[in-house]
Amino acid sequence: MKLIRVEDIAKYTGQQVTAQGWVYSRTDKGKLVFLLLRDGSGFVQCVAFKDDLPAAIFDQLTRLPQESSVIVSGEVREDKRAPGIPGGYEIGIKEIKIIQAAAEDYPMALKEHGVDFSLDNRHLWIRMPSQWAILRIRGTVVSAIREWFEINGFINMDTPILTPAAVEGTTTLFETEYFDEGKAYLSQSGQLYNEANIMAFGKVYCFGPTFRAEKSKTRRHLTEFWMVEPEIAFCDLDGLMEVEEQFVTHIVKRVMRERGPELKSLGRELAKLENIEAPFPRISYDEAAKIIQESYEKETDPEKKELIKFEWGMDFGAPHEALLTSHYDKPLFVFGYPTQVKAFYMEPWPGRPEVCKSVDLLAPEGYGEIIGGSERMSSPDLLLQRIHEHGLPEAAYKWYMDLRRYGSVPHSGFGMGVERTVAWICGIEHIRETIAFPRMIKRMYP
Ligand code: 4AD
Ligand code: MG
Repeated sequence: MKLIRVEDIAKYTGQQVTAQGWVYSRTDKGKLVFLLLRDGSGFVQCVAFKDDLPAAIFDQLTRLPQESSVIVSGEVREDKRAPGIPGGYEIGIKEIKIIQAAAEDYPMALKEHGVDFSLDNRHLWIRMPSQWAILRIRGTVVSAIREWFEINGFINMDTPILTPAAVEGTTTLFETEYFDEGKAYLSQSGQLYNEANIMAFGKVYCFGPTFRAEKSKTRRHLTEFWMVEPEIAFCDLDGLMEVEEQFVTHIVKRVMRERGPELKSLGRELAKLENIEAPFPRISYDEAAKIIQESYEKETDPEKKELIKFEWGMDFGAPHEALLTSHYDKPLFVFGYPTQVKAFYMEPWPGRPEVCKSVDLLAPEGYGEIIGGSERMSSPDLLLQRIHEHGLPEAAYKWYMDLRRYGSVPHSGFGMGVERTVAWICGIEHIRETIAFPRMIKRMYP
């Protein structure tokens, strides 16, 4: 009999098949036992009828614990009522082999569990349909990212994780001893190396784990997350925004095409994602500041008012970003942030040195920043001045300064956080569920 993957089950209606996996749940109904089988690619209902199986086997099925591993064979039947992901099909069991009857004390039994308990049992929690669906979608997001770059002529350059200096500021560095060379820091961003890479390869991207010793204990922060960072030679801020909107549209479209059952199982409103199509609206930081100030004036609830308190020059907090995105049903570009809230390497706005050529992309529905990017500074003199202003060691950036001396060109790039993007696409509350084993200030286990 043909070994199938549950995600493909619709193709096998009326055929005899074999599926292998784990018993997610079991329901006994007298002469019938229903098993919800998960095989890694989906969840499918399997029905055992007493008269079809040897008495001893059927009897064992009526006592089979959750998470037992099995191989089942039988006919695929279409049945609209059958639960599952994708659902709507069942397998009538003709034969079943129990590989292991699981221990009875499975911690993630089918009932409500608290967040800490679930996180302590993350190695088991990922078997649950919601977590499985989120991580399947993550996998597709990652594939779509690489696919877009491949189609568009970018080359993948892996940048170092152990680095001698900061990219995004010194306050969030994880440090470690590096033999006789002094301190090494876990990478906050591969950007500076990519600025060297583009002068050799034109368009590049790096994609890897990123480390931030952030004290922020919010639903948008992890200490280890995955960031994809393209960098492009001969590209200005406008060119960068075009790349970002094409890129994000591509990712959302592919997830919609390939992960419909998973999105539906999460209760995601698909209409919200169908809207995501380039071009995206663009507003300046100045305009954004005005929108926030107007809302502040109008707000009557003192608690909410306090949250969106704002003056020009501040960085946006999550409540500000939520407010801004509430006016749009697509991701929103905010460009031209104050120089003082951004990293040292951003090109100044022509004629307005207090503003820089930066752009953040804020996801709708209150999700906020998923991408940060900018046009990079061209002047070697100003760059050196900024390095000093930010208290960075000049010697560690000598090679970076060389890039401004030998064939410098206008160039731009951005970084997109995979976990924040997945959280938005899935419509979930907290990014800790978008990575298999999250790292947070207060959690390293499992
Ligand atoms: O805005 P950030 O700090 O930008 C950079 O690191 C630039 N060097 C990128 C570049 O231009 N090449 O980070 C980029 C993105 C954010 O928009 C966010 O999605 C994600 O990385 N991010 C985090 N995700 C989870 N947890 C954290 N602590 C994050 N910090 C940033
Ligand atoms: Mg940022």
